[in-house]
Amino acid sequence: MNTLDKSDKLQSIASEVSKCTKCKLHTTRTQTVFGEGNPDAEVMFIGEGPGKQEDLTGRPFVGKAGELLTRIIEKGMGVPRESVFIANVTKCRPTVDLKFDKDRPPDEEETIACSPFLLRQIEIISPKVIITLGNPSTRFILRTQEGITKLRGKWGDFHGIPVMPTYHPSYVIRNGGDNSPLKRDVWEDVKLVLQKLGWKRA
Ligand code: URA
Repeated sequence: MNTLDKSDKLQSIASEVSKCTKCKLHTTRTQTVFGEGNPDAEVMFIGEGPGKQEDLTGRPFVGKAGELLTRIIEKGMGVPRESVFIANVTKCRPTVDLKFDKDRPPDEEETIACSPFLLRQIEIISPKVIITLGNPSTRFILRTQEGITKLRGKWGDFHGIPVMPTYHPSYVIRNGGDNSPLKRDVWEDVKLVLQKLGWKRA
């Protein structure tokens, strides 16, 4: 599939997503967050679901966690953020209650309702590597109940696509941020990805 076809197909899914009412999250969203990036990306990042800033802007990973993810991509991997693709398991923001003041991971019902969109995104983009960020996306993609601490840094497989699970940037921030040993772990995981892709920084 050429880039234009991929882009058209992704746009048509984005339009479906914007009207979706398949789960309760549509009742509290400001807008959907489809994901963004290069339709031909070699690397696809998958987070859990939009947070407050993402819900307000319609873009994935633009809050504090997004700043760290962008540094991982640009400084760690040495490529522009626009060259990868960034998506989430759910396209609407999950919050603990309808007051909309605290985020939570997507629940099973929301994941089941929304994940077909993600699966179609993966199929179209057809990345060389998927990096799952944190438990919800790792468990969904690798079909496991195992935790991220055990899974990170080890290659998994999604229909022939190598999957590298690593910590979610929010988890790294909550546990010490730049000074956290978790951040070093993320760099180690990223290095494995660079090696797999044969990218220069490896
Ligand atoms: N956390 C996520 O999992 N996804 C986002 O888009 C933002 C924060």
